[in-house]
Amino acid sequence: MTETPLHAVTGAFGYSGKYIARRLLAAGRRVITLTNSTDRANEFGGQTRAFPFHFDRPDELAASLAGVEVLYNTYWVRFNHKLFRHADAVRNTLILFDAAQRAGVRRIVHVSITNPAEDSPLEYFRGKARLERALIESGLSYAILRPTVLFGAEDILINNIAWLLRRLPVFGVFGDGSYRLQPIYTLNG
Ligand SMILES: NC(=O)c1ccc[n+]([C@@H]2O[C@H](COP(=O)([O-])OP(=O)(O)OC[C@H]3O[C@@H](n4cnc5c(N)ncnc54)[C@H](OP(=O)(O)O)[C@@H]3O)[C@@H](O)[C@H]2O)c1
Repeated sequence: MTETPLHAVTGAFGYSGKYIARRLLAAGRRVITLTNSTDRANEFGGQTRAFPFHFDRPDELAASLAGVEVLYNTYWVRFNHKLFRHADAVRNTLILFDAAQRAGVRRIVHVSITNPAEDSPLEYFRGKARLERALIESGLSYAILRPTVLFGAEDILINNIAWLLRRLPVFGVFGDGSYRLQPIYTLNG
């Protein structure tokens, strides 16, 4: 009998990772998560075993990924903080990709950003481009998603814009408003 495929999701007790893990479980996969927040309350009732990221112990990180077929990587930091910056997220993600490869993970699904570029003046976009290149050059099977924005019941940005649109008599947009977005919808249920 073949074993149910095992997939890994980063941050499954956080925002986008939770929706990915939900879909995978509903599709009959077994799911583990890599997270900073192994003890965070979550909806999975023990179905999703949590492992710490262990970036400082890559062998343990690779051991956590043993038997995983697909890794869904959402790991990133939205804004630079004093103690944790985009450069740290890039360094850690490279360690994660390497650990995944050593663990025999077959495919990485990587959440990037729209218009990443290594010569971007913005560190966020430079870092994302660097990671895309590392993944492409790794020889692993991969898929790279490049959303402009994630939206759904829990997102802050679009829901706040919607709230303002419902209440303000006028609302400013850049340019003529005809530019296009490439969003990902975090579907409930
Ligand atoms: N949100 C958007 O509108 C948007 C738009 C475009 C692209 N994206 C991309 O989509 C991906 C997922 O975004 P998300 O909003 O769902 O992310 P998230 O849930 O906030 O975090 C994803 C992962 O990164 C870790 N992380 C986040 N902030 C951290 C910090 N300050 N220090 C250490 N670890 C941190 C989380 O840790 P825990 O394990 O502790 O949860 C989790 O494992 C990201 O790669 C982002 O660049 C998002």
